[in-house]
Amino acid sequence: MWIINPASRKAAYVSKKLYIKTWGCQMNVYDSKKMADILAPLGYQEVETPDDADMMILNTCHIREKATEKVFSDLGRLRPFKEAKAEKGEKALIAVAGCVAQAEGAEITKRAKYVDMVFGPQIYHKLPEMILEATGQKRIVNTEFPVESKFDHLPGEAKPAGPSAFLSVQEGCDKFCTFCVVPYTRGAEFSRPIEQIIEEAKRFADSGTKEITLLGQNVNAFHGEDAKSKTWNLAELIAAVADINGIERIRYTTSHPKDMDDALIDAHGSIEKLMPFLHLPVQSGSDRVLELMNRKHTAEFYIDIIDRLRKARPDIALSSDFIVGFPGETDEDHAQTMELVRKVNYASCYSFKYSPRPGTPGAVMKGVVAEDIKNTRLQELQALLVEQQTAFNKGFEGKTLPVLFDRKGQKDGQLLGKTPWMQSVHAEANARLFGEIVEVEITGAFQNGLSGKIVTTETTSTPSPQKDAA
Ligand code: SAH
Ligand code: SF4
Ligand code: F3S
Repeated sequence: MWIINPASRKAAYVSKKLYIKTWGCQMNVYDSKKMADILAPLGYQEVETPDDADMMILNTCHIREKATEKVFSDLGRLRPFKEAKAEKGEKALIAVAGCVAQAEGAEITKRAKYVDMVFGPQIYHKLPEMILEATGQKRIVNTEFPVESKFDHLPGEAKPAGPSAFLSVQEGCDKFCTFCVVPYTRGAEFSRPIEQIIEEAKRFADSGTKEITLLGQNVNAFHGEDAKSKTWNLAELIAAVADINGIERIRYTTSHPKDMDDALIDAHGSIEKLMPFLHLPVQSGSDRVLELMNRKHTAEFYIDIIDRLRKARPDIALSSDFIVGFPGETDEDHAQTMELVRKVNYASCYSFKYSPRPGTPGAVMKGVVAEDIKNTRLQELQALLVEQQTAFNKGFEGKTLPVLFDRKGQKDGQLLGKTPWMQSVHAEANARLFGEIVEVEITGAFQNGLSGKIVTTETTSTPSPQKDAA
């Protein structure tokens, strides 16, 4: 619990505007939501634009290059909003949070003196105190990895988590892949206690959440303890979340191939609520490059996991991350990546050009790959991935799928939803169906998603009394 002194307690009753911009992975999305929850009791309400905002937070990502430059250019855009407030005699605070904050620390306030607060991903539970200090004209730089966990200090949700919610269960990483900054920005691997997670999942379910994605930088290395000090693995946690009334769909991300244990693979066969889609990054199809990357497994090991997953759950679809142009990568290595992609046949993938990150071993490795070669390899890889993704989506044309409507469509009368395989679907739908899982006939399939028609007559009929009562 954080303590508010009597003077600041008054502030809780004054409505203030909070603007948060989020980059990076789902954990940052989760963190941004939690920051809003922490600030809500102090009177901060989230707004869509920085105009007239009392507090502006950039929640940043450091994973690939130019991250820092993007933050500074965004900071430059926020500055006039702060100045406009100052002209009215009011103080607006600008904060840089997340992984760039963790990596750059005081460099940020040195370069942009108008920044009031810089804090890393493990310290945002101290936001109320930091705001108090910053309001007193002090500049705050806090990139500690505190002994206590931020998760022990999070309040309940200020707003419902929504039909599909992220739930961080694990943070940090001890794997030290040679290209990656995460072990440095997020710190050591840590799993949340079981009861805390279940309690949060139940709160989500009570507020109408139907789908939960369990998050972690290395989520399948999860090893949380329960109140009796027994350690649970991810498969056990998934089973417990599946028992929560109202939760219909479970996902988890992101996983490392090394941690795909038998229990987790079996869970894909035995827990129906566990969705038949898995993001399992492999990065490269070449054993030589995998070793240089310190991924600690071979291409064959990965393919074997995929085979076992498909045995456990024949309709499972896969996605992955790839890096092209890691130092030392040859044409032959790249050809092996292409071969792996052909073997696995993915439903969707992310692919990136290697971007040297200061402070990581990869950044000083020999055999730097020229930019034009990186470009050619990326294009070749992406062409194949696009082909696979389009074919995957086309395979659903004419089929009827359960779709969870979790977003408003661009046009009125349209909702966007997700299939069990993570495809986006848009359909004409009554707003009343927002948050529901509805049978949708797929009428169109594209590279990036599907379009469909609701199978029931519910959109045109009046709401059933039962639904209204719910
Ligand atoms: N924890 C996850 C990945 C986190 S980062 C895992 O272990 O898979 C998300 C993705 O960004 C990575 O899978 C990788 O493909 C990409 N990535 C990370 N560092 C990168 C770098 N330096 N250059 C290019 N891509 C990178
Ligand atoms: Fe980064 Fe590797 Fe850890 Fe994933 S497993 S977060 S890629 S160091
Ligand atoms: Fe980016 Fe940090 Fe996530 S570097 S990918 S926001 S862990």
